[in-house]
Amino acid sequence: MCGIVGYAGGRDVVPVLLNGLKKLEYRGYDSAGLAIVAGGRLEVKKTKGRLGALCSLMEGRKAPGAVGIGHTRWATHGEPSFENSHPHTNCAGDIAVVHNGIIENYQKLKKWLQQEGVVFVSETDTEVVAHLINRFYEGDLLAAVKAAVSHIEGSYALGVVSEKHPDMIVAAKKDSPLVIGAGRGENLIASDIPAILEYTRDVLFLEDREVAVITRNAVSIFDEYGMPAEREAYHVDWDAAQAEKGGYEHFMIKEIHEEPRAMADTLMSRCRDGMIDLSDIGIDEALVRDISKVGIVACGTAYHAGMVGKYIIEKLARIPVEADIASEFRYRDPLIVPGQLMIIISQSGETADTLAAMREAKKRGAKIAAIVNVVGSTIAREADAVLYTHAGPEIAVASTKAYNTQLMAIYMIALELGRLSGHLDTADYQRYVQGLNRIPALMNTVLQTKDQISRFASQQFSQSSVFFIGRGLDYVLSMEASLKLKEISYVHSEAYAAGELKHGTIALIEDGTLVVATAMQRSLFDKTVSNIKEVKARGARVLAVCFEGSDMPADIADEVIRLPETDDIFAPLLAVTPMQLFAYYMTVEKGFDVDKPRNLAKSVTVE
Ligand code: G6P
Repeated sequence: MCGIVGYAGGRDVVPVLLNGLKKLEYRGYDSAGLAIVAGGRLEVKKTKGRLGALCSLMEGRKAPGAVGIGHTRWATHGEPSFENSHPHTNCAGDIAVVHNGIIENYQKLKKWLQQEGVVFVSETDTEVVAHLINRFYEGDLLAAVKAAVSHIEGSYALGVVSEKHPDMIVAAKKDSPLVIGAGRGENLIASDIPAILEYTRDVLFLEDREVAVITRNAVSIFDEYGMPAEREAYHVDWDAAQAEKGGYEHFMIKEIHEEPRAMADTLMSRCRDGMIDLSDIGIDEALVRDISKVGIVACGTAYHAGMVGKYIIEKLARIPVEADIASEFRYRDPLIVPGQLMIIISQSGETADTLAAMREAKKRGAKIAAIVNVVGSTIAREADAVLYTHAGPEIAVASTKAYNTQLMAIYMIALELGRLSGHLDTADYQRYVQGLNRIPALMNTVLQTKDQISRFASQQFSQSSVFFIGRGLDYVLSMEASLKLKEISYVHSEAYAAGELKHGTIALIEDGTLVVATAMQRSLFDKTVSNIKEVKARGARVLAVCFEGSDMPADIADEVIRLPETDDIFAPLLAVTPMQLFAYYMTVEKGFDVDKPRNLAKSVTVE
């Protein structure tokens, strides 16, 4: 995935780049590096390991008024090492490149360049870019970058500096995110907005196949034909502080505490006087008249929001829904029928598999509505319509508040489809909308379970395996609960439909095995309780999650988390937070890096 940043202005470039990289560490953190052009010389400093190692390396180095680029890496080609760290340079060491993305034809290009005498020092795909630029350089860096990218297949966001052009950064983009920060007497580039927010709130989005020249006083953008491209600035209205920890020990726990606000903001952006309005994203009478099927595509946590969508859209609107993992959907020759609506869910709006799946669905004639958190991201720009979630910046790799807001968005869509299709009468619609409006306030009560959960986690953190069980929406919730625990605590876990357990998995339950059982579907309560009894009889330790008033038998659960009463269909909105807290406290107890789990990255812009 990787994060890139670049700066041209009067400040000391070193702290600007290091601060920017700090905000981008969620994109990868196995090595980091900088290239600075100061006093007519290009200087490259890079190191394996976290950003702290680069900060130590740069200690005492000041470079006011210099231009520079920086990179934080998530390895794709070649192990994390000094040689494979970015920036990469040409043989003469006077051109430096940082890159996010994957150069798919790099082997072919590498072979060609080697035949021309180029000696490669890394295993990366990126290094070919530095040598290609050098190959095409005839005194004009912009022209050389343009020529180089015209030979590249794959995805890239690039920042390029050269000691022959000490005032400029050349940037280029295709299928990987890149924003330009337009400041006063200073301009920046970055993979994501938080990296530049300290310096400017005016952001320009570079489009695919565009290149840009960034100097201290100007930003010039050119389209793929070399023509100047006009770009309006987008003014960022959220605060830099929102991307900081704000007194919490980790971003993840801070972001969990932001859930009530994030969910309320998402709802309020579309709901007035007891009515939801999604007509501007094409969810209206005309759509419902022709609709035959809904498809939902996403990855990871966002896919689990999609699974909730399948259950509730089918229940409230009686429209068939298929939910797919994006990396599967794109290659399974999917069947798109006339009148199909595709809902694409992505926090970042940049996930490569999700983006490709969306393009595939679009090509096959589906109408695309995207649920996205990051404004101006690629999926948001390419979708026919966008329903933005209002989670604000999410920094912890494991998604929490963004998931809750994705659920909010999905519930709004389901209710609207239900109303418009006539399957929900006015009284039921109003009752559900009121219920949804009460959720953010109830979430404050849900957050009060954190001491109980933290205590329980302190007794359970040495478990080597955890099973999450539930029925109906509780099963879908269990899938997300299990993913969260795996992602950050590295504890093996599985989510199982409670009724399916006896068909195999129950063989794994032994004395002391932890089973987290959610029983928030009232109509299925007794059946879930029977399943809990089955595991209890085989020695399991049970953490049960249910509504306040539920009649959970005292002898089957070792710990019971009771949540405020709401309609069964809203259970996932309330119950996911205790699960996130459980994963969080288990990880804290184990002493792992909560916000940056091993091998993962927040925004996966590679296939
Ligand atoms: C990565 C992250 C997950 C996330 C998934 C989808 O795998 O580690 O936390 O759920 O991507 O991300 P998106 O930005 O598309 O929601």
